[in-house]
Amino acid sequence: MDIKKIQNLKNQAISSILEAKSDEELEELRVAYLGRKGEMTQLLKEIPSLSKSERKEIGGIANDAKKAIEQALVDAQRAEKTRKIDIDKEWIDVTAPGIQPPLGHFHPLTQILDEITDIFKQIGYQVAEGPEIETDYYNFEALNFLKDHPARDTQMTLYLDTKGTKIPPGEILLRTHTSAMQGRVMEKTEPPIRAVVPGKCYRYEQVDASHGFEFWQVEGFAIDKNITFTDLLGTIDYVLKQLMGEKTKIKFACTFFPFVEPGVDTYIECTLCQGKGCAFCKKIGWSEILPAGMIHPNVLKACKIDPQKYTGFAFAIGLSRVVSLKYNIHDLRLLVTPDLRILNQF
Ligand code: PHE
Repeated sequence: MDIKKIQNLKNQAISSILEAKSDEELEELRVAYLGRKGEMTQLLKEIPSLSKSERKEIGGIANDAKKAIEQALVDAQRAEKTRKIDIDKEWIDVTAPGIQPPLGHFHPLTQILDEITDIFKQIGYQVAEGPEIETDYYNFEALNFLKDHPARDTQMTLYLDTKGTKIPPGEILLRTHTSAMQGRVMEKTEPPIRAVVPGKCYRYEQVDASHGFEFWQVEGFAIDKNITFTDLLGTIDYVLKQLMGEKTKIKFACTFFPFVEPGVDTYIECTLCQGKGCAFCKKIGWSEILPAGMIHPNVLKACKIDPQKYTGFAFAIGLSRVVSLKYNIHDLRLLVTPDLRILNQF
């Protein structure tokens, strides 16, 4: 047996396969070359009787030839299958609308966040954002919380571990409120300033229906000459009515924060119980929605703004509170669930 004979057989087989015009012809060729009595099979049977050195070389070539014929058959069978596709049955309407993949949408918190920032943009506020990991200075010190001020306790602060660094303990923290951005913006901006700062805040809270350790606020502040307390009350009234509806009932009450004077808490009639009193509003019929106040002169001073020349107000909207009042959600934990049965309702 010589190599030429094998090559010729292979070439002959492959060209017949390429010329075959039906499955039947291909099957005949398979039998003729690779069947039990097929030419290639016969040829391979002779290999064991060759001398040892020939066996290795010729055996390899013969096996390759057999594989090439097999491959040519597989390819030809596949090509035959495509050729036979019934054009009428496989007809595709290329103008038909495609299959719409399932589309997601923004989370209810994001939707409300956009709504709030849009309301403020329309009355001339700019949007600023800042770090969630904050320094004691911006979160407290610049906001008139001295080192041992008892109001620090209300902020349930989560401090970062600074062991192994040069930073003293207690200097770096997760911001407890977006008010931390007041100083950062004031330091960089000449009044007049009108800014809103949406952002995530963190506190060491026991999680329950109305508290989370992680929550969103939208801080807002305005600083200019002659800004008064009535500007603050008017702004709150306007924004809350835009957000919650013209008929929203609003009331104010005195409160304390070290960085405002006077400080005020804003309540709206609880939309979950229409003022009757429920667990969400702690049975008082009103729900606290927005703390605010006139910026304390010490804060302006710390942030290089002259309190003799300028005054300003600040407020913060608790985002999850707005969402729960707007959509009647009694448990804030539902807002951080990945459960699509809940999220798809918005
Ligand atoms: N930063 C305060 C808090 O989250 C809220 C606040 C903001 C109060 C602005 C007054 C003015 O506790």
